[in-house]
Amino acid sequence: MKEVNNVKYFDILEIVELFSSGETEESIKNYFETKKLNGKKIDGEWHATKEDVEGLIEKVENVSIAFTDPQEIDLRNIELNKRILDIGGGGEGVIGQLKGSSVVAIDLRKSELEESFEAGDKESLKIIMDAKDLKFLDNTFDTVTAFFSLMYVPNNDHEQIFKEIYSVLIENGEFILWDLIIPKNTKKKRIYAIPIKIQIKGKKIVTGYGTRWNKEQNLEYFIDLARKVGFKISTQKLEEEYFFLRLKKN
Ligand SMILES: C[S@@+](CC[C@H](N)C(=O)[O-])C[C@H]1O[C@@H](n2cnc3c(N)ncnc32)[C@H](O)[C@@H]1O
Repeated sequence: MKEVNNVKYFDILEIVELFSSGETEESIKNYFETKKLNGKKIDGEWHATKEDVEGLIEKVENVSIAFTDPQEIDLRNIELNKRILDIGGGGEGVIGQLKGSSVVAIDLRKSELEESFEAGDKESLKIIMDAKDLKFLDNTFDTVTAFFSLMYVPNNDHEQIFKEIYSVLIENGEFILWDLIIPKNTKKKRIYAIPIKIQIKGKKIVTGYGTRWNKEQNLEYFIDLARKVGFKISTQKLEEEYFFLRLKKN
């Protein structure tokens, strides 16, 4: 990502990650050269604004999409203790990539867990499981994480998932949550998505997380839910497009 005169531009690699279909560096370069994607050369490399990328995705994938401003998260110093359960741990498998064999990653979809293996999460124990019905004994995990996973879950299911997480955590265990702020869908787009770069030890993961834009969620919503279920709020951090919460089981 580059910024020129307060306008942010994505490079080719970042644009590839914003497509769901199989675009490549070569195909994106071709869109620039055939003027299907409005481009700007910065330091000799093609770049495009998020609005132009949104337009191309609408044409190519036939789906209307709105991106947040691109975000960066540095996880190099995040403290995650002992035995970790990662909710919705497919996709990039970020927590698995970070903490390896200390992680049990659960996901509804087998294909997402296979994808996370390919993305570099080779060591976590991957299990197909619904977060609404965790099959672990109570007091099993020191830490539970949800890294941009609850944005994929209907709001009606969040309370049940919080209750399940509370049960499988040990006393004083922590639930650590990163998620997208989803505003009201005034743009009438089908998908709302965040382009994101995640720094873990020795690696930068470039990706995007997008969900059906048929709901709203924000930090206050999850704080209310956490308190209702019995968690104590240890840390709350509001960033530009997402939030971070560290919750403790009392
Ligand atoms: C795309 S991932 C989020 C990013 C992921 N944590 C990472 O590290 O890249 C969100 C996942 O949540 C999963 N999911 C949605 N509802 C779920 C549920 N009820 N139980 C378990 N996983 C669920 C989806 O299948 C999806 O793979």
